[in-house]
Parts: sequence; C-alpha cells; structure tokens
Amino acid sequence: MMDPNTPSFMLPPQASTLAPSYDLLYLSITYLCIFCFVLIMGAMTYFVYKYRYRGGEHKAVEITHNTTLEIAWSVIPLFVVIGLFVWGFRLYLDMAIAPRDAMEVRVTGQKWVWNFEYDNGATSSKEFAVPIGKPVKLVMTSRDVLHSFYVPSFRNKMDVVPNRYTTLWFQATQLGDQQVFCAEYCGLDHSGMLAQVHVLSEPAFEKWVKDHSEDKNAAPHERGKKIFNGKGGCMACHAVKSEAEQPQPVIGPRLYQAFGRTEKFQDGTTGVVTENYIRESIEMPNAKTVAGFAAGAMPTFKGVLNDQEIGDLIAYIKTLK
Ligand code: CUA
Repeated sequence: MMDPNTPSFMLPPQASTLAPSYDLLYLSITYLCIFCFVLIMGAMTYFVYKYRYRGGEHKAVEITHNTTLEIAWSVIPLFVVIGLFVWGFRLYLDMAIAPRDAMEVRVTGQKWVWNFEYDNGATSSKEFAVPIGKPVKLVMTSRDVLHSFYVPSFRNKMDVVPNRYTTLWFQATQLGDQQVFCAEYCGLDHSGMLAQVHVLSEPAFEKWVKDHSEDKNAAPHERGKKIFNGKGGCMACHAVKSEAEQPQPVIGPRLYQAFGRTEKFQDGTTGVVTENYIRESIEMPNAKTVAGFAAGAMPTFKGVLNDQEIGDLIAYIKTLK
C-alpha cells in the first residue's frame, strides 16, 4: 500500500475512501496490459528469429488445429475480461451512487469560477470546505458552457453541464487542502478555473460554514463584496486594487477607481462609468467593450443576479478607490 499523503510515481495522493480501490483496479489493468504486451511482443520476436529465411528449402509442416490450445486461449482471456468488467462495474456503482446520509453541496460552474452553496445558505467561491470522514455529494450545474469538476486526489471527475444536474460524491480521508481543476476546455481562462477543497475537522467545518453564511443586515457594499467574490465570481476576471498591489487578474477591466472614470471603447467612442453603465455591463456585457479587452469574454448575468444584487455590486465598486 502506498502512503496516502504522497503522490506515487504515477498517481496523485489518495485522499478519499475510494481512491485506493480505483488505484488498485487501474494499476492491475495497467500491469496486465504490460504483461500481455511483453508476452506477445516476445513471442513475435522469437518467431521472427526462429522462422527467418536461412536459404535452401524448408518445407512447412501443416498444422490444422489444436483443440486444447484454442479453447485455452479463448476461455482464459474471456474469464479475465469478465472479471475486469465485474470489478470495474462494481466500483462504478460505488462511485456513482452516493450514500444516503451524504451532505449535499450545490456547485455552479461558470466562466471561469466555481461557486458553492450549502444548505444553510452559506456560499463560497474558488474554495469550499468539507468535514473529514463524512460523505459529501456535490449537485452540479453550469451557467454557460461545459465544464468538468476534477479532484485528482479524490479520483473524482464529472462533467458540469448547462441546463441539467450532474452529481459526484466523495468522502475525504486526509485533513488539508486538495486541488480542484476544470477538466473541460471552456475558453480563455479555462486553466485558471481552479478551486480548493478544505478538508476540515467537524468543529472547524461548522465554524467555516458559519463564517460563510449570508448576513442580510450587512451594508450594501459589504453584500456587494460578497457577491463579487462569491456568487458573481467577478473576482475571477476583475482586479479591485491598483496594479502595484494586485497585478492579476487582467481578463476584464480593472475596477480600482473605475467609478466615474472615462473608458475608451473598442469602437473608438468613450463613456463614463456610472451606475447605468455598470448595470449594462453586468446584464449586457457585449453592448460596449473596453479597448484592449476581448469582446464577448464576459457572460451575461441577466437572470443570475437580481436588481438588489446588482445594486449591491455597484455599491461595492464605488468603494474601490
Ligand atoms: Cu471550466 Cu474549463
């Protein structure tokens, strides 16, 4: 057995209950393939050498059949592949069917951020927490294009599809952080569509969820900041501080001191950043594109964020000075 915390030569660390079973099947198939490869290539090389042309006349001996041999090379591989199928199918069922008592977390993928929502209303973005030793079921959907939720050390990967739900479950076995990747090419910043899973002890997890719960009584700009870094996922593309303080990301215009600024657009026109301009940019991002940025890079948030939330975001953007 490999040490679950360290990656092996071929595989990342094993940080979920099912990871060792997947690895055993994977490595068994791999080594079986290597064994067959060596056997077949070895026999072939041997025969090529043994029956090479040596000059003179060598008459071939005609062999019509060998019943024992033919049955053996048909039946043995048949049982091997049936065995592999049953093994793989049982593991597939373990992977596909979450335990009944699994805790649910809703996951939304969008260009280019992962958002998470808990039963008590807690939300987070680019990171989420799970308790160690408890089954967790992710119910996932996408707001725009195909994404894929991939946690190598859990051995979990599932497509995240617009207009439908897909699920994935795991039970973490190691405290600490695990990396989430997007494993489906989804555009400009696909490679930056990352998240962290914090695997925490039960008390630490409870505290984390509490800290991430919505506070309805917060000031509008504080709610806006939460939406910016959470549900809206705006921080994936827009920096909020000066270039010196926060060089990245620069996929969208920097929002530091944006309010009241005069923007230059791709078509040569200019416009002042007002409440109405920000609202238009959120709901119809393609109406105006700031010069130097890719047109169509931002998805619309019409129907995603309500009037209240857009207002909160505007309040937050006004504070960035
Ligand atoms: Cu989302 Cu790649």
